Amino acid sequence: MRDSLKKKPTQSFQKNKLQIKESNNKEGFYEEGVTRIKTGIGGFDKLVQGGFPILSNTLVCGTFGTGKTIFGLEFIYRGITEYNENGIIISFEVRKEDLIQQAKMFGWYLEELEKQKKLKILCYDVLKINNLMFEEIKRVSSEINAKRMLFDSLSEVSLNMGKNIHVDKSPDTYSIQQFVYYLVHKLRELKTTNIFISDTLGAEDYTKDTVSEFICDNIVQLKFQTMGGPYSRILLVRKARSTKNNEDIHPLEIGKTGMVVHDLT
Ligand SMILES: Nc1ncnc2c1ncn2[C@@H]1O[C@H](COP(=O)(O)OP(=O)(O)OP(=O)(O)O)[C@@H](O)[C@H]1O
Ligand SMILES: [Mg+2]
Repeated sequence: MRDSLKKKPTQSFQKNKLQIKESNNKEGFYEEGVTRIKTGIGGFDKLVQGGFPILSNTLVCGTFGTGKTIFGLEFIYRGITEYNENGIIISFEVRKEDLIQQAKMFGWYLEELEKQKKLKILCYDVLKINNLMFEEIKRVSSEINAKRMLFDSLSEVSLNMGKNIHVDKSPDTYSIQQFVYYLVHKLRELKTTNIFISDTLGAEDYTKDTVSEFICDNIVQLKFQTMGGPYSRILLVRKARSTKNNEDIHPLEIGKTGMVVHDLT
């Protein structure tokens, strides 16, 4: 091998590489060919090498009241206010006024962001899922140049899918799975980095549709579980494609200005 090829990288090359690794720029975190989207949630991004891979789908799952919606709202809010990435929220579970009120408790003023055309909240009736809805989501997403999307929730939609136009008889597990697959892939057309929320069944780790775990690229599990400290919830990154994720469980705090994922002590 020629000497020049054997040479170690120059100091300035190494410095540049370091700068790239440590970069905290508006476009995200770039490392080894993966552009990462920071969630901005306290203590979370370091668990996934700086953020979720751009355009990936993340499943945030857990039982009722574990903080799934708050996690999703914070991902959207921080995206807009800290990383200049507009967002779209698609909700089936909660009325728009209630979502706005829930966010306000943390000092996140979603109405203001909507006025500035940085955010759009779309609330739908689960019984009215059709192609017009997808068309509207696509149009709105392109109007505000959305980079992030929150879908709350897959379980609400799949639970009620038998009543909408996609099936004409009571749905079996297979048709629910097909429907969830269709939904997630349809929303990939938005070219956004997405969070899908889903409920899990009690002590089981699986979602009700039992397939979104396999469709989504990353899984964040939230649970009620005490680790002996002051917090009653935990967070675990259960899967993260293209990422060496931290595999520990972490105490999760719902603080005054948002979530904080604590280190194990
Ligand atoms: N301002 C707040 N400060 C601290 N904790 C809060 C605050 N607001 C809500 N919580 C806690 O968060 C829980 C609700 O969080 P969230 O709505 O994100 O849960 P979820 O997992 O989406 O629930 P569901 O499955 O019912 O939709 C409440 O039950 C409450 O314990
Ligand atoms: Mg919720």
